[in-house]
Parts: sequence; structure tokens; C-alpha cells
Amino acid sequence: MSLNDQTAVITGASSGIGSGVARELSSAGMNVVLTARRVERPEALANELGKCAVVAGDISDPEMPQRLIDTAVERFGTCDVVFNNAGIMHTGIIEDVDVENLCRMVRVNVEAATRMAYVALKHFKKSNRGHLVNVSSILGTKVRPSAGVYAGSKYSIEALSEALRMEVAKTDIKVSLIEPGVVETELQNHFPVHPKEILGITTPLQPADVARCVRFILEQPAHVRIPVMMILPGEQAM
Ligand SMILES: NC(=O)c1ccc[n+]([C@@H]2O[C@H](COP(=O)([O-])OP(=O)(O)OC[C@H]3O[C@@H](n4cnc5c(N)ncnc54)[C@H](OP(=O)(O)O)[C@@H]3O)[C@@H](O)[C@H]2O)c1
Repeated sequence: MSLNDQTAVITGASSGIGSGVARELSSAGMNVVLTARRVERPEALANELGKCAVVAGDISDPEMPQRLIDTAVERFGTCDVVFNNAGIMHTGIIEDVDVENLCRMVRVNVEAATRMAYVALKHFKKSNRGHLVNVSSILGTKVRPSAGVYAGSKYSIEALSEALRMEVAKTDIKVSLIEPGVVETELQNHFPVHPKEILGITTPLQPADVARCVRFILEQPAHVRIPVMMILPGEQAM
């Protein structure tokens, strides 16, 4: 299915996977609505890509999801795809962990992603078409010590995504979810030791690798659904 002239809202578009997906979907001819707090980054990307709108702000602001859809419709006449990607990662063992950081992460990874998903689907229901792509993680399928809350935030989006997919199965609306392994982004820059070192991964995924998979999911014909796609670097055993 051609994506040309369709419109995608992309959250978390100031770095990493969100920026990579913005580039890929723009190269497929899509209009893109980019959002993040560090707005100078998506603005620079918009200048480079064209056919872009940028909305600055915190995705955990309850009004932000509707503002994004409204911007897509006002600017491009339609919102066909929502890439529900913005996220943060805090981990730590019981003795060291900052519980406030964990709760802030839940507000972004769970609460904001949940609001974005429902606002997108309510909009898609009006025209009986559209595609919501949620971002989980390999840690949405298995837990490791010190990452219980991050994994829990992704288990939540897994459950939501599957329930929503079932709710719209008989319509022309699609719900997909991706589960990346280790991707070279800014997500884990604050970690004392990067997970790629711990896992012995010399060649992690790049955002462009994930972006190609997202485009593949979106380009399938109407009758083909890809509810879940796990994307791992070759060396990632867990
Ligand atoms: N990297 C990996 O290995 C990996 C693996 C599996 C899943 N994931 C998931 O992939 C998604 C993207 O992560 P990434 O790896 O690309 O990380 P990243 O490079 O750190 O990008 C995260 C994006 O989320 C945005 N964001 C975070 N908090 C926000 C907030 N409160 N309001 C608005 N935007 C916010 C950031 O923008 P601002 O800071 O500018 O607001 C940034 O654009 C996340 O959901 C993450 O859990 C990543």
C-alpha cells in the first residue's frame, strides 16, 4: 500500500527511533507531525525533510495527544498513522533506585501512551481507517532484575495494544506493536554501563533499521495485519 501523501503523527521525534521513523516515512512521501520537548531538533529535521509540522511539548500533558491529531488534520487534512513512541528508561536495584524517576517513567510510558492510543483510535473510528503503531520492547516480553518498572510499562502497552487490535479487528483500522532489542539511541545514555556492553552486542540496531520495519508494517495491503514485530540485533540472545 502506498504511503504517499498520507499523514503520520510521530511522538518522541527529537532523537533515536522517532527521528529515524520520521526520515523513513518522509522518504515514503508521507506528511509528518513531529513532537518532543527539545523542539529545536524536530524543527531542524522538518527543515530538512519538508511536508512537516512540529508541535513542542510534554507528551504527558493530557491535552497533547488531541493537539497532535488536530495539527495533522488542520495542516494536512488527515491523520492516517500514529507512531506512539515517546518513552524513557529508568532502572535500578532496590537500594539505589529513585522511585520518583520510576513514577515519572510510568506517566510517560504508560499514561501518555495510553492517552495517545485512545485519542488516535477515536479519531480513526470517525473515518473507519488508520493505523496505530505502539512501541514496546523486548522487555515487554520478559523481565530482568532492576528493570521491573520499565518492563512493566512495556507489558502494559503490550496488553493495551492486543486488546485494541481485537476491538478494531472487524474494521479497516489497524493496531501494531514493535518490540525492539538494543537500539543505538539516547535512551540509555545515562546508564553507568550501556546494556550493549552487558549483553556483548558489538553491532546494535540503528534507528534506521527499526524505521524500515515500521514502514514494512505500514505498507501492507488492507487485509494484512502485523500485530507484533520483534526486531533484534544479531548478537542479542535475550
Ligand atoms: N533504544 C532501545 O534500545 C529501545 C529498545 C526497545 C524499545 N525502545 C523504546 O523506543 C522508544 C523510543 O526510544 P529511543 O530509544 O528512540 O530513545 P531516545 O533517543 O531517548 O528518544 C526518546 C524520545 O522520547 C521523547 N520523550 C521522552 N519523554 C518525553 C516527554 N515527557 N514528552 C515528550 N517527549 C518525550 C524524547 O524527546 P524529548 O526529550 O526532546 O522530549 C525523545 O524524542 C521508547 O518508547 C523506548 O522505550 C527503545
